[in-house]
Amino acid sequence: GRVAVLMGGVSAERPVSLRSGQAVLEALIAEGVDAVGVDVQDDIAARLAREHFDMAFIALHGRGGEDGTIQGLLEWLKIPYTGSGVMASALGMDKWRTKLIWQAAGLPTPAAVLLGQQSDWQQVMNELGTDVIVKPAHEGSSIGMRKVHDAQALQDSYQFASQYDALVLAERWISGREYTIAVVNGQALPVIQLRTSHEFYDYEAKYESADTQYLLPSGLTAEKENELQQLSMTAFELIGCRGWGRVDVMADAEGRFWLLEVNTSPGMTDHSLVPMAARAIGMSFSQLVIQLLKEVQK
Ligand code: DAL
Ligand code: MG
Repeated sequence: GRVAVLMGGVSAERPVSLRSGQAVLEALIAEGVDAVGVDVQDDIAARLAREHFDMAFIALHGRGGEDGTIQGLLEWLKIPYTGSGVMASALGMDKWRTKLIWQAAGLPTPAAVLLGQQSDWQQVMNELGTDVIVKPAHEGSSIGMRKVHDAQALQDSYQFASQYDALVLAERWISGREYTIAVVNGQALPVIQLRTSHEFYDYEAKYESADTQYLLPSGLTAEKENELQQLSMTAFELIGCRGWGRVDVMADAEGRFWLLEVNTSPGMTDHSLVPMAARAIGMSFSQLVIQLLKEVQK
């Protein structure tokens, strides 16, 4: 069948999505699949309805692509698509509500509060600790995020994050190590540890910096690695995710894990993390892309 690789879109992560989409498209074409790149713009509904596609590979990141809206359109058009459905996509895009669900289930996730113009900045700092990270609730790739240490910077960072999102949260910063766990077709792949010389794993560290280190194997003991994979699968399933995704986690100085978020349409550039984890089990980028499509046909 004919596959639409949906990419680009209108979110702040458009440049990343174009890279993901191009890599996926090239892999599909190399595998002999009849695939077409489709940049998601205002005419997307008309275009998908007009051109006959049998399947969609979603390589979109952020709002308008990873948040359930395009998934809803594809449901109406009866075009099967990769990854999570409407509800899990919408939830996964919302870091605040994802956290509420994990908390309700007793899973570990750092304490956080929503910020607003009326926030008592000093009180938020007192409540969350000396290191706090401010995040737009519905962004990706660390866009709009800043790490702060005092009330004035907290307020400034709220204003900064507000440019990206009406919903902004402040989260306790977990000082320790950062890990990411790819989930592919119901299976957690080997854990990757991320090391950056930046204050945190920000946009530049993700896509531009040459000195970001990826540890794979992760450096965890087999027992801790297994615990982290189990935790990630539980977190993934609680949000209702399906197909594939990536769970981001911090470990504190005592080695306790703290869930940060789930990405329902993770980066698929040739430097991205899910392809990296797949390679560790002997799955090439093309094989990964084909596997994700196969899952759709089930
Ligand atoms: N939001 C980026 C694309 C990721 O999670 O990989
Ligand atoms: Mg994300």
